[in-house]
This record gives sequence, structure tokens and C-alpha cells, in this order.
Amino acid sequence: GQRVFSGVQPTGNLHLGNYLGAIQRFVGLQDQYECIYCVVDMHAITVPQKPQELTRQIREVTAAFLACGVDPRRHIVFNQSQVSGHAELAWVFNCVARMGWLNRMTQFKEKAGKDRENASVGLFTYPDLMAADILVYRATHVPVGEDQKQHMELTRDIAQKFNNDFAESIARNGFGETYFPLAEPLIQGPARRVMSLRDGAKKMSKSDPSDYSRINLSDGPDAIAQKVRKAKTDAEPLPSEEAGLANRPEADNLVGIYAALSGRAKADVLSEFGGSQFSIFKTALVDLSVAHLGPIGSEMQRLVADGHYIDSVLVDGANRARVLADQTMRDVKDILGFIRAR
Ligand code: TYM
Repeated sequence: GQRVFSGVQPTGNLHLGNYLGAIQRFVGLQDQYECIYCVVDMHAITVPQKPQELTRQIREVTAAFLACGVDPRRHIVFNQSQVSGHAELAWVFNCVARMGWLNRMTQFKEKAGKDRENASVGLFTYPDLMAADILVYRATHVPVGEDQKQHMELTRDIAQKFNNDFAESIARNGFGETYFPLAEPLIQGPARRVMSLRDGAKKMSKSDPSDYSRINLSDGPDAIAQKVRKAKTDAEPLPSEEAGLANRPEADNLVGIYAALSGRAKADVLSEFGGSQFSIFKTALVDLSVAHLGPIGSEMQRLVADGHYIDSVLVDGANRARVLADQTMRDVKDILGFIRAR
């Protein structure tokens, strides 16, 4: 079977990068695949969180999934901590992954900063939990932004090492040649890496101290307009062809955002705006962004106001996810040689 899994951290400030790189693409996969979309609250606590804010942010990410068009009846939407299989399989993967593999993870180096001695152990083993999220459902496809590429490679390395180390037991237990699939990242489209609006060399991120660096999914029309108008650009008019975007990171970023929001290719956008000044293009980008994001923001607000509905979606999704995860954990325990109730 072909199964999609992806996760988003409930760490505040959901932005256009999260939307175009991930959540918008979750929606488009729903006709083709069985999809499981997860609010990864256990990943969030790898750095300090205020409990009441965390609760609110879990509901907000869930609301974003639903407001963007994820269907929690046909697919599964839930928060990670409600399904214990994620943590259980992460422990097994802590024992499969090698220190050297995790030492190479650039996201850990960035997030831990200079004071690595003081980073949580959870932040270091974060990618093992991510591999467990995906593989506890034996998912085959994972839509993510480009920043998750290295974590996806590690997930494949873990699956492969588990399959190799336990090949004999996997076969003896009747699972054939391999147990875990090598999950394929789906990193596609013109917005796989949305950059900061203030600096074309930096990724748009939840933690950038400048709110002008990103468009939040909760921004109203005025905030969107101000941020787009203030976005950094160079002085040249837009090029007519995609090759003309080379070495123009800010222009490339804005054209990519326009393309992703309008469902067009960058080349197509440039055939319309090539030769225009940024003032003209930015006006069109404001109109497009407001028209596209306005309804999402107001639907999110409506959903978050009814916390009971959101929580019931998460409980229902977790109940369905747990059935799948529990089956994998029974298989994994048999493969490892653990004893369990039958
Ligand atoms: P997170 O919560 O940081 O981001 C959620 C998704 O948004 C994408 N993204 C971007 N895409 C394009 N441009 C950007 N500037 C940008 N910023 C963020 C991310 O690539 C991601 O797809 N480790 C993951 C969460 C996770 C996960 C998983 C994902 C945990 N378990 C299992 C997939 C499968 C993360 O921190 O995403």
C-alpha cells in the first residue's frame, strides 16, 4: 500500500513556508493516498514550552490543517502524544541509529547553538522520533519542505539498518525480505524552501525575531500588505525568464511564493510579470496573498474558538492511528525477540 505521513510542530507562528512547503501539499495528496497528518507535540518539548501555550498551539496547528482542506474523516489527523507507539519505536530506533549519524544533523547544530552541553538529549535524538513517526505507520511517502531532507535520509538509513540487522528474524516471522519501507520524501513545487522576506539568504522561520521576515497564517490583510510591501528586493525589474532569477534570491523567493499561491510555474508567472517593476508585482502579490490566506485565517479562528470540536477530531484520529501503530509495535517486538501477551 501507499501511505502518506507528515508532521508539523506546534511551536507557534505557522507561516507561509509551513503552508506552501507542507500543509497546502498535504491537501493535494488526499485523493491519491491514505494520509496521516500529525501535530508532533512530543517534538515540541525538545525545547522549553509553556504548557498552556503548547495546548493552544496544538489546537492551532490542527485548525490550520482543517482550514487548509485536510479532511479528518477520510484521513487521520491527531497529536503524536496520544499514540504511545511513536515513543516506543523511537526507543528502538535510538538503539539502531549510530551516534555518528546524529552528530551530522545540521538542524541539531543550528538549534543547539554554541551551548551544546546544555541542549536537551531529546533535541539530539529528535530525528529518531521523526523516523518512528513515519515508520510506525510504515508510510511510503512524506511531503515536507527542503529543510527536512537530511532527516528523511536518516529515516531511510534507520529503516535499512533495521531491515539488515534483523533480516533473519524478519523472514522467520513471516514478513518477507524487509519490514520497513524506505520512505520517499516528496519535496516538490516552487516553494520547497520559502525564504525570509527580510533576507533572501535565510529560511522563513517560526523563530526569526523579526515578524516582518514572515507572513503568518493568522495575519490579516493589513499585516500581509505591509509585510509584502516592505519585503527586501533588488532594484532591477523582474526578468522574463527563470534563468534571470539566478543570483537574485529575493526576487526568486517572491516569484516562487506567487507561483505556489496561484498554482502556476515560476516561468509562467515571469511570462506575465517580466519587465515589471517590483511595485507592480508586489501589488499583485498582496492581492493574491490576501485572497488566498484571508479565508484560511478566519476559518482557523472559527475552529480554534470551538476547542471541543478540535479536541474531538484529535481523539478520533488518535484512536484510528493507534490501531495501525499497535500492529507495528507487535510486529517489531516479535522481530526483536521480546515476549508479549498474545
Ligand atoms: P516544522 O514544524 O519545522 O515545519 C513543518 C513543515 O513546514 C516545512 N517548512 C518549510 N517549507 C518551505 N519553506 C520554509 N521556509 C519552511 N519552513 C518549514 C517543513 O519542512 C515541514 O515540512 N521535523 C519536522 C516535523 C516532523 C515531521 C515528522 C515531518 C516530525 N515528525 C515526520 C515529517 C514526517 C519539523 O520540524 O517541521
